[in-house]
Amino acid sequence: MSQWNENEILDLIKSRRSTRSYQDKPVEREKLEVILEAGRHAPSGGNNQSSRFTVIGNKEVLDNLCRLVEAAFAGMEYDENTYSSLRSSIIRSREGGYRFHYDAPVLVVISNRRGYGNAMADSTCALENMTIMANAMDLGTCYINQLHWLDEDATVRDYLATIGIPKEETVTCALSVGYPATPDGLPPREPLVRKGNKVYWVE
Ligand SMILES: Cc1cc2nc3c(=O)[nH]c(=O)nc-3n(C[C@H](O)[C@H](O)[C@H](O)COP(=O)(O)O)c2cc1C
Repeated sequence: MSQWNENEILDLIKSRRSTRSYQDKPVEREKLEVILEAGRHAPSGGNNQSSRFTVIGNKEVLDNLCRLVEAAFAGMEYDENTYSSLRSSIIRSREGGYRFHYDAPVLVVISNRRGYGNAMADSTCALENMTIMANAMDLGTCYINQLHWLDEDATVRDYLATIGIPKEETVTCALSVGYPATPDGLPPREPLVRKGNKVYWVE
């Protein structure tokens, strides 16, 4: 018999939902270290382990990043073919006050070798591990794509370089982490109904 209870693990996975509103409360370093450890132990193509995790918990840095992200999106054009989430980032940036990370106290930026075929796959395996671990710790998370969309924006990359993210790396994704601003302080947990992600059995 396995040492794990599969129903509990499945509940943990199914109850992971995106948190888009956070308390203005720092996340303890020990808790972040556990979450990052989960990310670091994700599988990686060829066991390359080339993902870089930059944990930003400095409010001034996050505010600077928000301003640069807003300026970058506000200067973009869009039309009816623009991916809806990107269009929404552009529109909200033009309106002003766009907080792409939902004002989470922590943003984990994941980067990897530019041009490496498994860069995105490795990074998102790590990101998913972190979301599940955070859920187990009653912390909220949300996948944040904006820095990936701005991977080639010179101003954003200049700024990311000042906090140690080399321009030679591609920014694959990011994860907001924090205590949810919900009435009970817990992450939203009601599983979303699955309409897609179909399974076909060949027996
Ligand atoms: C590749 C990818 C990119 C995403 N980008 C964003 C994003 O930039 N901002 C955001 O609020 N949510 C983002 N999400 C979260 C999805 O919107 C969310 O997972 C989906 O609506 C299902 O909701 P749930 O996470 O609560 O189950 C992203 C998810 C994935 C997998």
